[in-house]
Amino acid sequence: MERVISGIRPTGNLHLGNYFGAVKNFVRMQDEYDCMFFIADWHSLTTHPTPENIRQSARTILAEYLACGIDPEKAPIYIQSDVKEVLELYLYLNMNAYLGELERVTSFKEKVRQQPDNVNAGLLTYPTLMAADILMHKADKVPVGKDQEQNMEMARLFARRFNRIYNIEYFKEPQNFYYTKQAVKIPGLDGSGKMGKSNGNCIYLFEDDQTITKKVMRAVTDAGPQAMNSEKPEVIQNLFTLMEAVSTPDTVAYFNDKWNTCEIRYGDMKKQLAADICATVAPIREKIEMYKNDDALLQRIANQGAERARERAAQTIKEVREIIGFRAN
Ligand code: ADP
Ligand code: TRP
Repeated sequence: MERVISGIRPTGNLHLGNYFGAVKNFVRMQDEYDCMFFIADWHSLTTHPTPENIRQSARTILAEYLACGIDPEKAPIYIQSDVKEVLELYLYLNMNAYLGELERVTSFKEKVRQQPDNVNAGLLTYPTLMAADILMHKADKVPVGKDQEQNMEMARLFARRFNRIYNIEYFKEPQNFYYTKQAVKIPGLDGSGKMGKSNGNCIYLFEDDQTITKKVMRAVTDAGPQAMNSEKPEVIQNLFTLMEAVSTPDTVAYFNDKWNTCEIRYGDMKKQLAADICATVAPIREKIEMYKNDDALLQRIANQGAERARERAAQTIKEVREIIGFRAN
């Protein structure tokens, strides 16, 4: 069976963008592939060097993953920092990762702009740690959002380069995986292109109906369509994109018709959208509460996940050490 790996940094709670862009796909994949998922707590140090309570954050994301429907029996979940073998592969990959190419990565350049006082080496080598996460498992497929495409290209580059340098067909090139032809991008309700933690425009999976409804009703709109069948401006398209994620096709078609005939009432559309988001989120929220209150269960799941990941990781490290010429154990 093909292997799948993916991870999420525990820098905040899961929101609708994370759910539809990532975790929902993880849940679908667990029945079809040999999956493992992890919480990338080391990666979060690149931007959050002194985390308030990193173990608690990892626990929270773990509870949220489970609440979304990941079944640890089918797809083990582990915390990255529990699997130290990854660091050794990270080191080897770093030896063959070059400053120029790392500096050219868009997300690195973005972070340099965002945190000019903390341009650390971890930030620069973010793609090698990510490649280590993936290659460690010899993964075939990696479900990620569009923003991760460049990191994925780097992972393939490092795999190819390792094979070339050590003259062996060892690592396979992991492929990006999307269920839809194009990666889904969940927009923000503030008219900005993307729902994201740093944009402060998220609907979180732990939020209650009232909070969600308030956020949706405040979503930015415009004066309404000026002509029949006109193109939708971005703020309106955003509402439709969200609706496509949470509502039935009939509901989307209904409001689309209303738009096309200039009869749309944004208040009605928002009410429907809020109700459909709440219907998606409510059962997840309830499960988050349940898991969050069961520390022993979370601990057990994380331990089991780490054990499974370590088995694979140890095997890869053994082989890699042999290939490079170190003592295998
Ligand atoms: P954030 O942008 O809120 O900080 P992350 O960067 O931690 O979220 O993203 C974790 C995962 O969720 C990634 O796979 C990313 O592609 C996906 N993701 C985040 N925001 C969105 C969004 N608005 N639409 C689709 N996918 C998203
Ligand atoms: N960089 C990913 C993100 O920000 C998180 C991540 C770290 C990851 N290691 C990974 C994703 C390995 C997939 C595979 O979303």
